[in-house]
Amino acid sequence: MSAPTWDPAQYLRHAGHRARPFTDLLARVPGLPSEQPRIADLGCGPGNVTALLAERWPTAHITGYDNSPEMLDKAHVEWEGRTVGGGRLDFSHADVRTWAPSEPYDLIVSNATLQWVPGHGERFAEWVAGLRPGGSFAFQVPGNFDAPSHVLMRELAHSARWRGRLAETLRHDDAVSAPAAYLEALTGLGCAADVWETTYVHLLTGADPVLDWVKGTGLRPVLTALADDEEAARDFVAEYRTALRAAYPDTAHGTPFPFRRVFAVARKEA
Ligand SMILES: C[S@@+](CC[C@H](N)C(=O)[O-])C[C@H]1O[C@@H](n2cnc3c(N)ncnc32)[C@H](O)[C@@H]1O
Repeated sequence: MSAPTWDPAQYLRHAGHRARPFTDLLARVPGLPSEQPRIADLGCGPGNVTALLAERWPTAHITGYDNSPEMLDKAHVEWEGRTVGGGRLDFSHADVRTWAPSEPYDLIVSNATLQWVPGHGERFAEWVAGLRPGGSFAFQVPGNFDAPSHVLMRELAHSARWRGRLAETLRHDDAVSAPAAYLEALTGLGCAADVWETTYVHLLTGADPVLDWVKGTGLRPVLTALADDEEAARDFVAEYRTALRAAYPDTAHGTPFPFRRVFAVARKEA
């Protein structure tokens, strides 16, 4: 399975709803050990949530890492440079599967990315080792792989019409761990860990808003696999849209979209 191609504009269409878990995550990150903290954001995407780190730590040197040229282009243009508090925000190409701290970090953070990184739990030891004493590792991953949005996508991808092209495209069981497993992994590394889950009920607006949402994220592997066949992509999306309409009915106030997410903040002993 090759890496999906990202579309920053599509991804940013629900930026407000998508940023909420990140601000909830940051609210639980304790103070950092340095006056001018060094911060890494793994899988920074288009950089808009990376920029929120500069609001909380205005003197920090923050680097967002990503392996999507499309996302990095957007981040460079929109967000790179000095921050108002005299810190710096920059972006760099890196693969989170192999990224390792090359200097001491005060905070390593990752939002809505580790579900794309198979075996990410095996990287935790190296990342925690790269933190300064008193520094933190904080992440958020979606925990919605059994939600209708994903189940319907997988069922369709495995149906007779699509399985030949898409059966290997979507991950499921191994994408993220249970909260208790993350807690065990992080405490096992000697950290004080705070792990929790939240189900947001996003109230989306507009036509077929759940489809519009997943076109920016969960559907990327399918859209990438069918990128060379416009008609097939259109057909898949049409079938999926019909199923989503039944699963997420429109109401007088919009379309409620329940979305479970898992959070972890691990502080290295000072
Ligand atoms: C859903 S977006 C999240 C972006 C951003 N953190 C946010 O919260 O808006 C996932 C990002 O992870 C990046 N990504 C996925 N796998 C990656 C990998 N192995 N190395 C680096 N970046 C990766 C994608 O390119 C994409 O920008």
